[in-house]
Amino acid sequence: MKNIVIALLSIVCIATSCQSEKKQEKEKIVIGGKKETVSPEFELGEKLFKGKGNCYSCHRMDKKSVGPSVTAIMKIYKEQNGDVVGFLRQKKDPIVDPENYAVMKTNFTRLEKFTDEELEAIALYMNEVSSK
Ligand code: HEC
Repeated sequence: MKNIVIALLSIVCIATSCQSEKKQEKEKIVIGGKKETVSPEFELGEKLFKGKGNCYSCHRMDKKSVGPSVTAIMKIYKEQNGDVVGFLRQKKDPIVDPENYAVMKTNFTRLEKFTDEELEAIALYMNEVSSK
């Protein structure tokens, strides 16, 4: 019995220490952000942006890489009241770097499989991460 209790306790310890590590990671990700916990939508957006969406392979936060930085994109989107989800659904024309639109276009077939909620989460993530 005693052994079982000890085993259970250590599982709980492992589980909670894992969680606090994850939390720290989340806080680091928000550029210059306050130490606040991020919303589930932000988390989903980040996960998609860096994972399944593959956006991060061409879009860094502050530096231009293959595509413009997230900060550069969102600056123009905020100024011109742009619609990220509309753009990703091919309902809106490119307003940041139309000359290189062909490169960005290669993503759209893949993005058709994303739900509106997923695209909105990506848009929210891009917006929040660049306004901190
Ligand atoms: C293969 C590289 C590549 C990948 C992957 C990629 N992009 Fe892009 N993206 C670009 C390039 C290049 C541009 C600049 C051309 C343009 O403005 O359309 C761009 C532009 C954009 C713009 C600005 C469009 C405008 O109005 O001009 C947004 C928003 C954007 N990308 C979002 C995303 C998101 C979200 C993902 C992931 C689902 C993603 N991109 C994945 C290369 C990429």
